[in-house]
Amino acid sequence: MNTNPYRATHGSSVVSPLSPNRIASAFGRTDGRTMLAALALFAGVLSLSGCGASLDIKPDADIAPNHLYMFAAITTPPTPTGVQAERVNLGRRLYYDTHLSENNTVSCNSCHLLNKYGADGRPVSLGHNNKPGARNAPTVYNSGLEFVQFWDGRAKDLTAQAAGPMMNPVEMGNTGPEQVMTAVRSNPQYVHDLKQAFPNDANAVSFQNVTASIASFENGLQTPSRWDRYLQGDTNALTAEEKHGLQVYLRTGCEACHAGKDMGGNSYEQLGAANRWADRSDPGRAQTTKQSRDTMFFKVPSLRNVDQTGPYFHDGHVKTLEEAVRLMGEHEAGTELSDSDIHAIVTFLHALTGPIPSQYIQPPAPEKSIATNAGHPNTGGAAHTAQGGL
Ligand code: HEC
Ligand code: HEC
Repeated sequence: MNTNPYRATHGSSVVSPLSPNRIASAFGRTDGRTMLAALALFAGVLSLSGCGASLDIKPDADIAPNHLYMFAAITTPPTPTGVQAERVNLGRRLYYDTHLSENNTVSCNSCHLLNKYGADGRPVSLGHNNKPGARNAPTVYNSGLEFVQFWDGRAKDLTAQAAGPMMNPVEMGNTGPEQVMTAVRSNPQYVHDLKQAFPNDANAVSFQNVTASIASFENGLQTPSRWDRYLQGDTNALTAEEKHGLQVYLRTGCEACHAGKDMGGNSYEQLGAANRWADRSDPGRAQTTKQSRDTMFFKVPSLRNVDQTGPYFHDGHVKTLEEAVRLMGEHEAGTELSDSDIHAIVTFLHALTGPIPSQYIQPPAPEKSIATNAGHPNTGGAAHTAQGGL
């Protein structure tokens, strides 16, 4: 059986090549309402052509999985082998290692707790020296399925992303790649393992390979759920209540933005596409592009495991999933959802939560103390001043 999630999805009969962002770009714009119209049109074309309905479904209760063409199933990623396994294992150790932060206290796992669905449960994260950041930490689970990284898409992929937090003054506080590499080089095990993991690279002990290893590990952080089984044709994988919630989700138009493999992560959309969003202090993508037309555009977040990753939105100001769904109805879909509709959608969203891959995220033994900081416990700052301010 082919367990590669990418191939399985692309080759699968339930998936249409019409991903929401492709549909949107075919229409030349990417705002939510254009997509809604586009999707409605394509849905109409599909149902007129009468394709599908070959699976065993109950027409009154089930939506034929092959009519759910805007979604795509994921499956458990294959166990990595060979060089790929070396990279994943190294990436896992780096992910958990606090030595990669300026004062040896913060690791990726401080803000993206892998045993807590990859988020930290805070409105905004606390980093290096407990300084609060400006945004909510998105989950790292399934983020490799998304078209760009960060709320505003300023990193093109996981490798580019991983460099960000290590250098961010509020997150891990390093001054640059050299400071990270000083820590890495001082651990002989890392030097050895980088050479193993990148055998054809003359310069294996590089910052690029550090971030690539972390990204290799993160790519395996996927959580297939009952929803994926449903998309693959197992109509018993969802309860009747969840199927009803799916109907409400579709009727409301949530899938115009939250679709594809990750139930999001395919496009930037305006927060307030239907009704203006009041708090405009974080302009979203405009902060990166400096283009006023990007004001209040954010990457559409994934809805996988969303019942576990609150509080919600880029500033984490909403505590409950019910309230998040109500706001989405009002501001994105232009619909005032009733309490029972909100309840139905939330019930459906629970089906998107998959088990944490506990074996894959097993924390490694603590790393041996690192030579550069060994003589200066708890004084990361002093330690690298002594090294000439690296
Ligand atoms: C101090 C807390 C903190 C630490 C430490 C941290 N992150 Fe993050 N991470 C965040 C926040 C906050 C964001 C969102 C920032 C934004 O979008 O502007 C984020 C975004 C991300 C994203 C993008 C996810 C998405 O859906 O767009 C990934 C992936 C990620 N971090 C991985 C990592 C890795 C790998 C490390 C370690 C090298 C790390 N983070 C360290 C807080 C942290
Ligand atoms: C026009 C596009 C669009 C539509 C339609 C839309 N959303 Fe969203 N959704 C977004 C964007 C953009 C965000 C991120 C907003 C932010 O925090 O900056 C978001 C965020 C969310 C969040 C918060 C996720 C998190 O991790 O913080 C939830 C939950 C959510 N949407 C559910 C829904 C539901 C349910 C519907 C249908 C009622 C819906 N959305 C309709 C674009 C949309």
